[in-house]
Amino acid sequence: MSVAPAPAPTGRRTPPAGSWRAAWRRAAARLGVPLEARWLVEEVAGFAGAELWRRLDEPAPAAALARLDELVTARAEGVPLGYVLGHVPFCGVELVVRPGVLIPRPETELVVARALAELRRTGVVRPTVVELGTGSGAIALGLAAGAAGAGLAGISILAVERAGAALAVAAENLARQPRLARSIRLLPGSWFGPLPSSLAGRVDLVVANPPYVATSEASVLPPEVADHEPPEALFSARNGLQASAEILAGAGQVLSPTGVVVLEVSATRAAETTSLAAALGWRRVCVHPDLAGRPRVLVCRRAGAPALRRPGCARRDPASRGGRPHA
Ligand SMILES: C[S@@+](CC[C@H](N)C(=O)[O-])C[C@H]1O[C@@H](n2cnc3c(N)ncnc32)[C@H](O)[C@@H]1O
Repeated sequence: MSVAPAPAPTGRRTPPAGSWRAAWRRAAARLGVPLEARWLVEEVAGFAGAELWRRLDEPAPAAALARLDELVTARAEGVPLGYVLGHVPFCGVELVVRPGVLIPRPETELVVARALAELRRTGVVRPTVVELGTGSGAIALGLAAGAAGAGLAGISILAVERAGAALAVAAENLARQPRLARSIRLLPGSWFGPLPSSLAGRVDLVVANPPYVATSEASVLPPEVADHEPPEALFSARNGLQASAEILAGAGQVLSPTGVVVLEVSATRAAETTSLAAALGWRRVCVHPDLAGRPRVLVCRRAGAPALRRPGCARRDPASRGGRPHA
C-alpha cells in the first residue's frame, strides 16, 4: 500500500467512463477522504503509486469495480480501514488483520524500537524475549525484523496470546514471513501460564501492549474502535490497569537480573502505571513519550540490576516511593 499523499482525483475534465480515475473520484466523493479512496483503489487494482497515476484513464475491470464498491461501502459504514483492506504495515512488515484481532497502531512501533534499544543496552547478543498478548504478531514480527539491524540477530521470541481468533491471525502472519518466524514461537494461553518453567530467571525482555482501556470508557471510544475491534484486546478491569498489573507482577519470575520490562501504557494513565510498577517493586521505572510528546512506553528493571553501559531514563528512581523490590 502506498502512503504518499495523493492529490485529489478531481479535475475539470470528465474522466473516461469505467476508468480507474472515475472509480477513484466516485469513491472519494462517497468517503470524503481522497487518500483513503486511493488506497482502496490501489487494493483492487493491484498496482499503486506512480503506476496507478500512469494508468488512471485505463478501463477498470468490472469485477474490480464491484469489489471496490464493496470496500467503499464497508468503509463508509465505519469499518476500520485496516479491516477493509485486510492488511496494515507495521515496522516494515505487511500484516494481515481481520475482525477478532487488534489493528496494530503506529505508536506500538515505538514499543518495538524502545524494546530493541533496551535489549542493546543490556549487551546480550542472543536475547530471549517474551511478548504477552501478541494479537496479530505485530510486536514479535517487528522485533524479529529489527533485530539484525540492532545487532541482535540471535533473538528468540516467545509470543503468547489467549484469544483463538488472534492466534489464528498471528499464525498466518508468521507463515507469510518465514524468515522472521524462525525466531518466533507462538504459545496459546494466558500471560506467563504457557511459558516453560526452564525460562524462569532467563528472560531478557518482557514486552507487551496490554489492553488498557477502562470499561467505563467504552462509550467515549470512537465507534470505529468500540464497534469493531475485539473487547479482550481493548478493555481491562481496575480502571484499565488490571492487565498491566498482572504483567508487572509476573515478570519478576521470568526475567534475568539484567532483564527489562517494556510496556505500552495509556497516555492518561502513565503516572498511575508508573506508581503501580514502583509499588510492585520495580526500579528505574521511566516512561518514554510518543512522537506527540505523550507518555506511552514504560520501561522498568529489577532493583539489583547491574549498571548499564549508557544512562537510560532521566526520571527519578521511584524506589523512594516504596514497594517491595524484585531482588
Ligand atoms: C492491545 S492488544 C495488543 C495486540 C498486539 N500486541 C498489538 O500491539 O497490536 C492486547 C492483546 O492481548 C491479548 N490478551 C488479553 N488478555 C490476555 C491474557 N490474559 N493472556 C494472553 N493474551 C491476552 C488480547 O487478546 C489482545 O490480542
